[in-house]
Amino acid sequence: MNISAKMTFTALLLCAGMAWGQNSKKANYDESKVPSYTLPDVLRCNDGRTVTTARQWERQRRPEVLDLLSQEEYGITPRQKIKVSHQVLYENKQALGGKATMQQVQFTFSGQGKSVRALLLVYFPNQRKGRVPVFIHYNFRGNHSTCMDEDILMSDWFKSLPPDNPTLPRGNQMSRYNFDRMIERGYATATMCYQDIFPDHAEGGPKSVTALFHPKHNQGPHRWQAIGAWAWGYSRIADWVERQPWADRRQLIVMGHSRLGKTALWAGAQDKRFSVVISNNSGCGGAALSKREFGERVYQINKTFPHWFCPSFAQYGWKEQTLPFDQHELLALVAPRHLYVASAEKDNWADQRGEFLAAYHASPVWRLYGLEGLPSSAMPGLHQPIMNHVGYHIRAGIHDVTNYDWERYMDFCDKAFG
Ligand code: GCU
Repeated sequence: MNISAKMTFTALLLCAGMAWGQNSKKANYDESKVPSYTLPDVLRCNDGRTVTTARQWERQRRPEVLDLLSQEEYGITPRQKIKVSHQVLYENKQALGGKATMQQVQFTFSGQGKSVRALLLVYFPNQRKGRVPVFIHYNFRGNHSTCMDEDILMSDWFKSLPPDNPTLPRGNQMSRYNFDRMIERGYATATMCYQDIFPDHAEGGPKSVTALFHPKHNQGPHRWQAIGAWAWGYSRIADWVERQPWADRRQLIVMGHSRLGKTALWAGAQDKRFSVVISNNSGCGGAALSKREFGERVYQINKTFPHWFCPSFAQYGWKEQTLPFDQHELLALVAPRHLYVASAEKDNWADQRGEFLAAYHASPVWRLYGLEGLPSSAMPGLHQPIMNHVGYHIRAGIHDVTNYDWERYMDFCDKAFG
């Protein structure tokens, strides 16, 4: 080998070694190995001043945090409006044994000479005095996976899958949705499959709603990707729901699990129409503090899901201490509205303590409004929910959405809506 060939070979070995070294780093699950870290003070403005009033938070600091998270984490949501049309494809006034009305609404988004279709599945209680609060939440495996109702239509995404795909059987994720209980407790539910908005894989962009926007919005390190698009979709669902005669537009609840919990938080941060924002096991890039370096790391999430966050977020891989923000600042953007964060005992990957602490460190912003967030940095025990303006629980079991979680969310909303 001549000298230059040897140098190239060595450089290649070095690169491969570095890549292997980065990929083989393991997640830490040992609390004693959490590094000492300093969180950015959520109330400290870019000019060094400390926020002391709600007005100053809203005028100065809140927009700064929103900008920072747009630039460095979730990408910038375009202000451009695209065309959205709705068509009620199906209605059953005697659904769920006569207790509810079911509607299926097709959303057609258009722009750049293309269109994307999505299906919203809605149930609202037939027995109601006035308008009702509405849970707006995405599902992972299609509307048909949420209950056994034979009339539920499949959206375009599912029609394109091979017949043996595990997401196709009806009711295949039923345990995560209890529409009967929601209706009994006086809530409406509106759910859509997140794949309809942005197919969840690295090449999903061109088939997603982002492709309907001017191409300038889909370029550069701060561009929005899947989480940005899903959050935008939550707001489009709210646009439709808030115009329905049965829906109380002051009682819109955005809820999501896991990646969709990250999304619910980002949607709730940007869109103040959501009066309650619920994060179920949202973990890294959701409610969990990144600087604790516990469970999933910024490097790992960007490596596995390069299409979720804006490209700029990847620069903090294995370098969480250099992040100019942390996730408590995302949660703070929900103030003074109601926020609920939930963890699961066996969900170390999502860093339960990090989820709790982020809600605790966001709480000073609620205090500016004279409202109580989380009062103490001591985590509550299992099944001991805290329900102030900020709520939190940790339940037994794995990363999932269970009846226990839903019942607590409804308790919290009952309280929030008086
Ligand atoms: C993966 C990912 C998490 C995410 C989860 C989910 O585990 O690493 O960040 O929350 O998927 O969405 O189910």
